[in-house]
Amino acid sequence: MASFDVIVIGGGPGGYVCAIHCAQLGLKVACVEGRETLGGTCLNVGCIPSKALLNSTHHLHEVHENFEKMGLMGANPTVDWSKMQAYKQDVVDGNTKGIEFLFKKNKVTWLKGWGSIPEAGKVKVGDEVHEAKNIVISTGSVAASLPGVEVDEKVVVTSTGALSLDKIPDSLVVIGAGVIGLEMGSVYKRLGAKVTVVEFQDKILPGTDGDTVKAFQKILTKQGFEFVLGAAVQGVDVTDGKATVRYKMNKDGKEASIEADAVLVSTGRQPFTEGLGLEALGVEMLPRGQIKTDDHFQTSVKGIYAIGDCIPGAMLAHKAEDEGMAVAEILAGKHGHVNYGVIPGVIYTTPEVAAVGYTEEMLKEEGRAYKVGKFPFMGNARAKAVFQADGFVKIIVDKETDRILGCHIIGPAAGDLIHEVCVAMEFGASAQDLALTCHAHPTFSEAVREAALACGDGAIHA
Ligand code: NAI
Repeated sequence: MASFDVIVIGGGPGGYVCAIHCAQLGLKVACVEGRETLGGTCLNVGCIPSKALLNSTHHLHEVHENFEKMGLMGANPTVDWSKMQAYKQDVVDGNTKGIEFLFKKNKVTWLKGWGSIPEAGKVKVGDEVHEAKNIVISTGSVAASLPGVEVDEKVVVTSTGALSLDKIPDSLVVIGAGVIGLEMGSVYKRLGAKVTVVEFQDKILPGTDGDTVKAFQKILTKQGFEFVLGAAVQGVDVTDGKATVRYKMNKDGKEASIEADAVLVSTGRQPFTEGLGLEALGVEMLPRGQIKTDDHFQTSVKGIYAIGDCIPGAMLAHKAEDEGMAVAEILAGKHGHVNYGVIPGVIYTTPEVAAVGYTEEMLKEEGRAYKVGKFPFMGNARAKAVFQADGFVKIIVDKETDRILGCHIIGPAAGDLIHEVCVAMEFGASAQDLALTCHAHPTFSEAVREAALACGDGAIHA
């Protein structure tokens, strides 16, 4: 048995960041992780491996679509799926080993195994019980199940199975037009599969800015995606390795089906808290399976905290990281805080889609007066040079004060561009502040400045 100031349960982005920051703040800390490697879903079977596949297939797309236009002639590269898989695994291994190194460097003890909490102040890992003044639960989430759909991770897969299908399918049906569905759909579309997305709502990416959704669906359709919107999947049957996806149209109840070699179920994720012993401890839960916490991330049991996907809020690695940092600060007697109004969201397709803050739809619902400044990448020289002039930057500001309330980008490097707006929002900046800031030419970021200009007297290149 060992004693710690803090034991963090879960070694994903929320948990490992929390553990490292606790150590930086002088606390004696351990992190419990049952996987063979640190990094949780994000590094092992989520954000990182999917970005590796998105990267390799993006290059393939560039070869097919744009190389000749640039005078790059010659034989087309062919896909070696097992080599691509090995590259993906190398990327994962490099990152998970990196976290192990950081644990050693910061003197964070890795307690290997699955943890449970027999009583407040104690964490059991295997046969050992360790003592902790405070416990932080950061056990993440798992793919939500869908009635009538049995996942075998071979033909019918979640995001985990979709990263390592035995072979590239000729046809893929994606259930759910959310982030996972559109990212992994893009990977297989670029690898030559026929990709059909079946979505319950009558638009893709529910909750996203309306203009962005319209433009994005148009671009994806041009790339060859097929969409069946307003359709509820009723079930999936698998016979001899082929799947049939049955669905019912919401508007008229008509039933139809699609056959596919593989089916990706990406209809959301649910908190993972199984085996922790929370019920016996009396930890209060919310109706959707999340752990209830107060403003300081403390659960209903003193000394037990929770962060990340297992508490309410966006299920995003960086939101969990920020909560991990904040709770470490709180446990060290400081003032941890997360600004939930400025958490960006990014979809790593081509083009990328990024957003932060309010959408127009949200502001209309609140009855708040706003102005919009929009700039198309068509007016950005750099975007045109790299064949990525589809899309726009849209900045939403308060009508009276010009304070930036939100930003929505669809276009090249959107996932990076969004962060200058995030920083501006953290400082309570106006669009004019952004517009008066010199931006290097020629960069994609000029489109952000132009959108800021469009909130005032007007963009120059539009
Ligand atoms: P999601 O919540 O983003 O999208 C799920 C979609 O499935 C919704 O559009 C929903 O309307 C639809 N749906 C639900 N039931 C359905 C049915 N029976 N038939 C047809 N459609 C149905 O969930 P997703 O894509 O699985 O992602 C899970 C979580 O992981 C999200 O919170 C996401 O933000 C996060 N994530 C974030 C990434 C990023 O930041 N780039 C990458 C991957 C995941």
